Amino acid sequence: MIEFSQVDFSYALEQPPLLKDVSFQIREGEFIAVLGRNASGKSTLARLFNGLLLPDRGNVKIDEMDTGNPEKLFAIRQKVGFLFPSPDRQLIADMVEDEVAFVLENLGLPASDIRERVDAALEMVAMENYRKHPPSLLSGGQKQKICIAGILSMRPKYMVLDEPTSRLDPAERIDILATLMKLKAEWGLTLIYITHHVEEIVAADRVFILQNCRADSFSLSELLEKQEYLLQLGIEPPEISRLIYLLNRDERFVIPYEVVSAADLVNFLCR
Ligand SMILES: Nc1ncnc2c1ncn2[C@@H]1O[C@H](COP(=O)(O)OP(=O)(O)OP(=O)(O)O)[C@@H](O)[C@H]1O
Ligand SMILES: [Mg+2]
Repeated sequence: MIEFSQVDFSYALEQPPLLKDVSFQIREGEFIAVLGRNASGKSTLARLFNGLLLPDRGNVKIDEMDTGNPEKLFAIRQKVGFLFPSPDRQLIADMVEDEVAFVLENLGLPASDIRERVDAALEMVAMENYRKHPPSLLSGGQKQKICIAGILSMRPKYMVLDEPTSRLDPAERIDILATLMKLKAEWGLTLIYITHHVEEIVAADRVFILQNCRADSFSLSELLEKQEYLLQLGIEPPEISRLIYLLNRDERFVIPYEVVSAADLVNFLCR
């Protein structure tokens, strides 16, 4: 479990705080989406998960280990994988399989273990046919999947992804999201997914909204129902929930916001 307790954070004393009294728990296997305006503190929050930043007050615990305890930092960083927005920042090797194996070699694992883990990670992101390719020749989405495989090879329990699809085209965004949903389903990975593409939150169990130094937690359907609140935050609700909202204004319709795709909506209306 991940636990934030009464966390305050600011970059400098003279600056107003970015997070104030933030408390939440994330259970194993949850898919949490994080939304918020530009500069609301999403990337800052992300860096608090694995001790890249430390709270000014309160604490962050990963499976009971406090990120403020330097002796636990290594174990915490093995448990919490971290993906940056730009894959180019993270790719260093000349060949895909070396890239994925890089961290494992540094950890000094036996060669047979490394091979097994690299195979499993590449298969999970459907990149096993690219193992001998130079990462620099891959598309943005493929590079991002190699970065994900590199993190997976460490067998983390949690993964924090800071806008991993921000520089990708829509088809690649869908591919990355499908990969993450598969990871959650098959490996039980806990995901903390920062995005400003609101249509991506439909995969989430819960959504955190960062605003006014707070991180408010909503279930997906609860949030989609709050259309005015989303618009006020500058977040355009997903098309499908906008449609449900408009239909529900007519008393003949009581469509639940659990309906998150056009196919679901047609099924619901024609049942
Ligand atoms: N290292 C730093 N030192 C001082 N201020 C910083 C630092 N990093 C970020 N900030 C400031 O903190 C605020 C929050 O930044 P952060 O990057 O967490 O926001 P964000 O929600 O991720 O924004 P975006 O949507 O643009 O990615 C911003 O005003 C930013 O300028
Ligand atoms: Mg950011």
